[in-house]
Amino acid sequence: MTFKERQSRDRGVIENNRLMELHLYPGNRCNRDCDFCTVFGSPKGEYLEYTADHLDAALRSVMLHEQGALKFYGGEPTLDHKNVIWAIAYLRSSAFTGAIVIYSNGIRADQLIQILESDPLHNTTASLNYSITTGDGAPQMPIPSLQRLEAYEEINPGAIAIGHPDIVDSGRGVDPFTGEETRPKVNSQCPHCYPVLKSDGQFHACPFAIENNAPHFQLGTIDSDPAAIAQNFSNFFTWLDTVHQPYAEAHNLPACTVCWKHLAELPTPQAAQADAQILASGVV
Ligand SMILES: C[S@@+](CC[C@H](N)C(=O)[O-])C[C@H]1O[C@@H](n2cnc3c(N)ncnc32)[C@H](O)[C@@H]1O
Ligand code: SF4
Ligand code: SF4
Repeated sequence: MTFKERQSRDRGVIENNRLMELHLYPGNRCNRDCDFCTVFGSPKGEYLEYTADHLDAALRSVMLHEQGALKFYGGEPTLDHKNVIWAIAYLRSSAFTGAIVIYSNGIRADQLIQILESDPLHNTTASLNYSITTGDGAPQMPIPSLQRLEAYEEINPGAIAIGHPDIVDSGRGVDPFTGEETRPKVNSQCPHCYPVLKSDGQFHACPFAIENNAPHFQLGTIDSDPAAIAQNFSNFFTWLDTVHQPYAEAHNLPACTVCWKHLAELPTPQAAQADAQILASGVV
C-alpha cells in the first residue's frame, strides 16, 4: 500500500480558548452510501457550502499557528471542490498557518488533487477512506482514481494518507458492516475527538455523532463567545470520563453505542457540571 496511516495527535488541547483541532462539516451529501457510514452519507444528503461567517467563527476557535489543524469532512468534500478551494484561500488570507486535512473517498481524484495543490502554504493533505481505498467493506474506488492518487503520493510523499480501519457503532454503525471479520469493531473507549463546526452554524462535540442532535453534544453557535465554546468542550470531556465511560463499563457497552442509543438515560454535561459544583460547595 502506497499510503501511510495518519498518526493521531494529543487529545483535548486548548490554548487561550483555542482548540488545537477543529472539524468542518457541510452536511452528509456524498457520491457513495457506505453501509457503515457514521454520518449517513448519501447522494440525497444535505449540503450547505462554507461561508465567510462560518469560517470566521472557525478562525476564532482554532489555534492559528503551525500547531493548529482544520479538518474538512462530510459527506464528500470533492463534490464541491470549488467551495473548498475558496475556503482554503480564505483561511490562508486570514492568518491561519496550521495544517488543513481533507477527508475524502478519493473517487474524484482530480478534484482532490486540485484542492491539495491550491494551498499557497503547501500544508493541505488528504486522508482516504480505508474501505473505499482497499475494497474491504465497500466497493473499491475506480482503479484510475487509485492510480492517480498513488502516483501523486509517490511524487509528494506524505500528501495522501489512509484512514483507520476501525468501525464504530455510530450512524449506520457496525451491524450492516460487510468487511473483513478481523477489522476492529468494538471500541470500548471514546477516542476523545476534537469537535466540529457545522456549516449550519452549530458547534457539535463529536465528528462521529454529528447527525445526533442530542443536547449533550451542543457546544454553541457561530455567535457564541469562543471562551464559552472552549469551556463547553472541556465540560464535555469531563462528562465523557465521569459520566459516559462509567455508564459504558457498568452496562458492558461500546462507547459509541452509549452515545447512539442511551443518551436519554444520562445527564447532559451542563447538568452533570452543575451537580458537581453543588456537591463541591457542600450545599445539597
Ligand atoms: C464520514 S467520512 C467523510 C469523508 C469521506 N466521504 C470519506 O469517506 O472519507 C470520514 C471518515 O469516517 C470514516 N467512517 C465512516 N463511518 C465510520 C464508522 N462507522 N466508524 C468509523 N469510521 C467511520 C470513513 O471511513 C472516513 O474515513
Ligand atoms: S463513509 Fe464517506 S464515502 Fe462512505 S457514505 Fe460516508 S461520507 Fe460517503
Ligand atoms: S463515544 Fe460518543 S463522543 Fe466518543 S466518539 Fe463515540 S459517539 Fe463520539
